[in-house]
Amino acid sequence: MNVFRAASGGRGTLCAEILASLGSRACVALIAAGIAACAGSGEGLDANGRPLAPEGSGAVPLSADFDSIQANIFTPICSLCHVGGGAPEGLRLDAANSFNLLVAVPSTEVSSLDRVKPGDPNNSYIIQKLEGHAAVGAQMPLGGPYLSASIISFIRQWISDGAQPSAVPAAKNLLITSIVPEDAERVSESPPQIMIAFNHDLDVSQIDRRSVHIERLMPDPSCEAAQRIAARVTLSSINPKVLMIWPSRPLVAGHYGLIIDSASPLRFSDLAGQTLTIRTENGSGKSVISSFDVEDPP
Ligand code: HEC
Repeated sequence: MNVFRAASGGRGTLCAEILASLGSRACVALIAAGIAACAGSGEGLDANGRPLAPEGSGAVPLSADFDSIQANIFTPICSLCHVGGGAPEGLRLDAANSFNLLVAVPSTEVSSLDRVKPGDPNNSYIIQKLEGHAAVGAQMPLGGPYLSASIISFIRQWISDGAQPSAVPAAKNLLITSIVPEDAERVSESPPQIMIAFNHDLDVSQIDRRSVHIERLMPDPSCEAAQRIAARVTLSSINPKVLMIWPSRPLVAGHYGLIIDSASPLRFSDLAGQTLTIRTENGSGKSVISSFDVEDPP
């Protein structure tokens, strides 16, 4: 990314974006060859307006599908900041989490707008942030260089086409693919949403939403009992792979557990009837599937 930053000064943002999307090896090659790939508006793009990925570079050309947008934009550019426990507004744009935290998930800054609203790019908060006319905060990527309209048009098109997920086939067995915050993670501020993501769509009728909750775990449980945190649990019909838990108030600094509790082990089922059983600990009826720390604000 150093090359990307260094190259982004003089030649305009399109150049920087193409270089970024090609990766630093390709960038060095372009500069070394001294070619005019980045000089004008349409140059460096193929006949379909896609950046030219050099043969053998292993780069995926930018197109209006999720895997390509992830590989060319979210991973190399956005997840410099939007990753891990310090991700701004709880938005992680790494490959494991971006789709599930974007599609049909309300923005933290403007909660009346979803980050990505399938079919409606104008009312998708991510587009407003990328174009620099969102009601709150700055244009993304923060501090620039910003994405050109032609690059943003690929994200717009993906959203207009229904914001379809990755084309990479999921494993056959029902699995939990990601929990946010991760187990043992330290998050710099209260997470706006806590997420359990699966690789298959869940069967809503099989889920007992009361069986997932968050507790504040105390350092000495014999003196002070864990406190249950008031929260809503949702499963979106647009992306029924993710259970979201929304604390009704920001979590104060402390140690928290994401807890599955049930008299019998809770079973999550997918639409094919496959179940995933989470074993509860020692007959306690409870299983902490992730415990994380919310840090004191600086
Ligand atoms: C240099 C760090 C940095 C980079 C790189 C960056 N962001 Fe951000 N992003 C932030 C910060 C900080 C905020 C919160 C403050 C603000 O909105 O100005 C934010 C907020 C956002 C939000 C609002 C989230 C919400 O739920 O309200 C979106 C959407 C967003 N960024 C998308 C992106 C995308 C897409 C990229 C890559 C093209 C990107 N950002 C790159 C730092 C960054």
